[in-house]
Amino acid sequence: MRLELRGITKRFGSFTANDRIDLSVEPGQIHSLLGENGAGKSTLMNVLFGLLHPDEGEIVIDGEPVRFHDSGDAVRRGIGMVHQHFMLVPVFTVAENVVLGFEPTKSFNRVDYKKATEDIRRLSHQFNLEVDPAARVEELPVGLQQRVEILKALSRDAELLILDEPTAVLTPQEIDALMEIMRSLAAAGKSILFITHKLKEVKAVADVITVIRQGRVIGSAEASASESDLASMMVGREVELTVDKSAFAPGESVFQVRDLVVRNDRGLIAVNGVSLDVRAGEILALAGVQGNGQTELVEAIAGMRPIESGTITLDGQDITNHSPRKVLDAGLGHIPEDRQRDGLVLSLSVADNLVLNTPRRAPFAARGTRNLGAVRENAERLVHDFDIRTTSIDEAVGSLSGGNQQKVIVARELSRPLRVLMASQPTRGLDVGSIEYVHRQIVSHRNQGNAALIVSSELDEVMALGDRIAVMFDGRIMGVVEPSASREEIGLLMAGSQVSGE
Ligand SMILES: Nc1ncnc2c1ncn2[C@@H]1O[C@H](COP(=O)(O)OP(=O)(O)O)[C@@H](O)[C@H]1O
Ligand SMILES: [Mg+2]
Repeated sequence: MRLELRGITKRFGSFTANDRIDLSVEPGQIHSLLGENGAGKSTLMNVLFGLLHPDEGEIVIDGEPVRFHDSGDAVRRGIGMVHQHFMLVPVFTVAENVVLGFEPTKSFNRVDYKKATEDIRRLSHQFNLEVDPAARVEELPVGLQQRVEILKALSRDAELLILDEPTAVLTPQEIDALMEIMRSLAAAGKSILFITHKLKEVKAVADVITVIRQGRVIGSAEASASESDLASMMVGREVELTVDKSAFAPGESVFQVRDLVVRNDRGLIAVNGVSLDVRAGEILALAGVQGNGQTELVEAIAGMRPIESGTITLDGQDITNHSPRKVLDAGLGHIPEDRQRDGLVLSLSVADNLVLNTPRRAPFAARGTRNLGAVRENAERLVHDFDIRTTSIDEAVGSLSGGNQQKVIVARELSRPLRVLMASQPTRGLDVGSIEYVHRQIVSHRNQGNAALIVSSELDEVMALGDRIAVMFDGRIMGVVEPSASREEIGLLMAGSQVSGE
């Protein structure tokens, strides 16, 4: 398929998410759309897939302008989309999911699963998309569920496939396999629009790269472009891609988790006997594909989730099952995964959010009376020191950008006396510039002789920050490795296999 987007503009109220975007994709081409979080990538793809209607511009397929009322129209014109969040029915089999909503019938009202199964076998074989048609989707690893989504699109004769941030939930090995699949699809003449914000992936697989920033096309590049050039195009200025870390000189262990068992919201064991040690002057990075118990582990440590058994010790003090307040007072700083829910009060000012954990303490209050001068002074200083971009310290924190909201939390947590900083997905959704900034703050906390536990599903982040890397899978620690370990080795642990090979 030859696709052309001409002058696509999409507004949400007064906000322009896509601004006169031109883009063309040739048959058999892997075209990467590269842009930071919030650049407008998903919006553009939703327009192309008929889920949103453009305010201006047109979609042209093989020379013919088309108009999509809904995604059914797009599917009929040969477009398939694999969403960031899969749209499969967990309790159905692979074959049932593939035919869902589009069932080949022998006669009216009879679904022909035999034909569906044969279709899946044929497509699986043709495009290296091995998956068992009879398997139940909920029993498959995420990488295979994604294959089912791709098969579903192919079974509807998609000629152009949109993959929106498909690698976010995959292990390194699953990412390699997906890239092989993309290459074989392209070799068979399919067009692919591959959306990502990861430079390495773009360079590995793209034929052509289009960079968008703030809803506009900034330019295009070839896969041979350097990572720093691509990053500058994405961000609009020079960026530092590596974390500058001095030599590592750890002290004694200041934080211990022993045989921790924690249940998830459904009452199932999510953390299954985890033990960890973090030393002074050390960053322990916890790697893993999301959903392997990391969230429950962090919540349990922070006092936000009950601990079934096991102990947590901070600086010699037992903090097992203590309230969040007591855990913070013991010297644990917490940068939560969901900053808007757990880290900030969005309607309160920047100044108030910067003292959220210590509003009734000196110097911010005395004998029940708030010292507004001290609160303001603190805010002015932190806004300056942590480069928080806000029109004033009185602005509601909810109106700041995601990166600046995160800086408010980082500033607050790192500006009080801490022994251990625990940060969960500290840079998720941030722009490259803010990522760089947050990383530097974490390293400087460690360089002052403090301990840090960083939980991240971004392998690059784990490898850049960790002085040691622990890998979590299915509620357990599969291994602890040095930062010099290979991506392959860490990837195997993330997938639950021991490095020695079972
Ligand atoms: N339905 C919507 N209503 C209002 N704003 C939206 C909507 N969808 C996306 N946006 C805004 O449009 C911008 C681009 O979002 P998106 O296309 O999801 O970016 P990307 O996929 O590149 O991360 C963001 O600022 C986002 O908040
Ligand atoms: Mg998106």
